[in-house]
Amino acid sequence: MPSLLRNRLTKRALRPAISLVDRRIRLRVERSAEQLRRELDVLRRGTEDMRRSQYALGLLLDGTGRGAHRIPPAREMDELVRQIADLNGNETHARRSAVVAYRTVVALEALGVGRLAGSTSNVCGKLATVPLLSPPNGSILEIGTLYGLFASALTRMVHRAGIEPDLTIVDPLAGIQLQPGTAQPADPTGTPVREDVVRANLALCAGGSARIRQGLSSDPEVREAVSDRAYGVIIVDGDHSLEGVAADLDWVERIVAPGGIVVLDDYGDASWPGVQEALDKHLADGSSRLRMLGRVSTSAYLRAE
Ligand SMILES: C[S@@+](CC[C@H](N)C(=O)[O-])C[C@H]1O[C@@H](n2cnc3c(N)ncnc32)[C@H](O)[C@@H]1O
Repeated sequence: MPSLLRNRLTKRALRPAISLVDRRIRLRVERSAEQLRRELDVLRRGTEDMRRSQYALGLLLDGTGRGAHRIPPAREMDELVRQIADLNGNETHARRSAVVAYRTVVALEALGVGRLAGSTSNVCGKLATVPLLSPPNGSILEIGTLYGLFASALTRMVHRAGIEPDLTIVDPLAGIQLQPGTAQPADPTGTPVREDVVRANLALCAGGSARIRQGLSSDPEVREAVSDRAYGVIIVDGDHSLEGVAADLDWVERIVAPGGIVVLDDYGDASWPGVQEALDKHLADGSSRLRMLGRVSTSAYLRAE
């Protein structure tokens, strides 16, 4: 057979058939290459679109100008929902509240002046959990507000749950964040911590009726000025030292309404060991009106008797 193919006559006789096969193979290869080129083109365009969308999302949600990013992975949100549901007993409500809280954080940081302090989990945890714990009234006291954006967001979340909010804020608003015993680095926003800034942020959600008392929560005059009501919600997020938190908790005992919710921020956060130490000591002898409900992210939740 090989000798037959080498034969000139045979070659000549087979030439038309061979060139026909050749042409067909070339045509097929060309068609496949063309199709491959088209498919690669579609893939390349898809990847470019995805990169562009991701870049734009990054501009909206990354940590530039606020420190913490707002791009939580699914497992982080799932864990947050589980922790909230452990407190309120309803996973569907926990998820709805966590997602709405997340949207509120993104919207307020996009439009507000300054930032909300803390990780996405902790901020959304506080915003989502408080309304689900059904506070007895809408009087909210925030000790330590920084830019007022968290307080603003919380009034919106509480209002969504059907409770008309009425906000009081206590903070020295001293131009920078004060923390006794620690030198705070320059804020990533570059925004001063001032009353006009807080007012601008409250205007986004809380309206003009919010009360701001400038000063330290340990100042007797400040305390007297805002101890005129029983608060349904108190957020303790001012002085993070052991002594500072202990003093705030003692005051909170006297001004929280029966059934009121107290949130102690940064409980269990390794950067602020005094916070957990102060609460654990405060609850240790059993004389407190506050009962520990549990923890969501790095905040402790308590209810007053
Ligand atoms: C961690 S920031 C508050 C963050 C804010 N709650 C948020 O979630 O975005 C702490 C704030 O408490 C203020 N502060 C420090 N000591 C305080 C005190 N004794 N009483 C009231 N505010 C205090 C700080 O100046 C700062 O503005």
